[in-house]
Amino acid sequence: MNLLSITLSLLSLLHICTAQSADPAAYSCNPNSKTNSSNNQIKTLLDNLVSGTIQRGFISTVQGAGGKNQIYGLAQCRGDVSKNDCSTCINDAAKNILKLCPGQSDARIWYDFCFLRYGRSNFFGQVDTSGFFLINVQNVTDAAIFNKKLAALMNKVGSRAPKPASRGLGKGKSDVSPFDRLYGLVQCTRDLSELACAQCASIAIGNLPIVCGDKRGCRVLYGSCYVRYELYPFFFPLEAKESIQHHTVNYKSVLAFNP
Ligand SMILES: *[C@@H]1O[C@H](CO)[C@@H](O)[C@H](O)[C@H]1NC(C)=O
Ligand SMILES: *[C@@H]1O[C@H](CO)[C@@H](O)[C@H](O)[C@H]1NC(C)=O
Repeated sequence: MNLLSITLSLLSLLHICTAQSADPAAYSCNPNSKTNSSNNQIKTLLDNLVSGTIQRGFISTVQGAGGKNQIYGLAQCRGDVSKNDCSTCINDAAKNILKLCPGQSDARIWYDFCFLRYGRSNFFGQVDTSGFFLINVQNVTDAAIFNKKLAALMNKVGSRAPKPASRGLGKGKSDVSPFDRLYGLVQCTRDLSELACAQCASIAIGNLPIVCGDKRGCRVLYGSCYVRYELYPFFFPLEAKESIQHHTVNYKSVLAFNP
């Protein structure tokens, strides 16, 4: 259903780790959505998305008088991220999407801390599982035990995310050995119903063994949910001696299409 021509700057993946530089994990633009007239409208939309996200962590809004000229926008930060990190992330997202998808009225950009999307058709509430996988190419050492622990953890965090009080976020940790701790997280976009969030999470989690089998880490970047596991901490709050890590060097990206 989405004819997204998906472009991904592999180069940018390698740059995420350079602190404040704010390249996205991935982005996509629909080249069929090129318009000459929409830039100001998109800028106004982006201003609203940025301010709404900073205030409330999530916003879905419509710009324009109606009909063909309307544009639907959604932006949100991951629920565990501080207001400061959220503000930085969503500002970077708004700035970069204009550069990466110039003059296009259908675009998405994924960061680890935030997500932003707009388009001409009303996508609110609809499960969208197009996007990317970012796969850590390193293998786990004991796949049998790891995969069992991974499935248990992801099913647990996946069932937390849809609960209304969770605001689309589920996260948790599990020790896979005396030396290795596994971190798992699911974040649905907050326009989704409980059922729709559960659906997005379940599709993403179901694809982990297929797309990311036996790998040490993986991110699913879908239009409607962000799902990730790693053998290092990547979400808040951090425990003593933990710090957020932005490993990107060993990752490769794979396209994910809507079923
Ligand atoms: C946009 O402008 C280009 C060149 O200025 C033109 O060829 C194209 O037809 C225009 N597209 C639209 C949608 O107006
Ligand atoms: C991981 O395991 C697969 C399958 O056994 C192998 O083909 C691949 O080279 C391994 N990757 C690394 C980075 O060791």
